[in-house]
Amino acid sequence: MKQHTIKFPHTDHAPAILPEGANLAENLSIVNSPMLFGCRSGICGTCLVHIELGYERLIPPSDNEREALEIYAPDNPRARLACQISLVADISLIKIESV
Ligand code: FES
Repeated sequence: MKQHTIKFPHTDHAPAILPEGANLAENLSIVNSPMLFGCRSGICGTCLVHIELGYERLIPPSDNEREALEIYAPDNPRARLACQISLVADISLIKIESV
């Protein structure tokens, strides 16, 4: 099975290695990561992240996620809601704390 790596730059957390298509909300809750999740449905913004590397390789945000991102991170073109990401590439993400 294909796997991808998620790195958490600027933290002490080791990279997480997850299978292709892994839902980040399900998987990053059970491995040691800096991520916190609330609603897990793209509404609350708790899981807001900046995708430092790999953004363009991810499946683009849905219309609903895009609407939420316009509220939570209107000036960050590399922001995503981690709970809405299916892992299809190696990525590096930074939690955005300002929500
Ligand atoms: S956990 Fe609420 S938007 Fe992702």
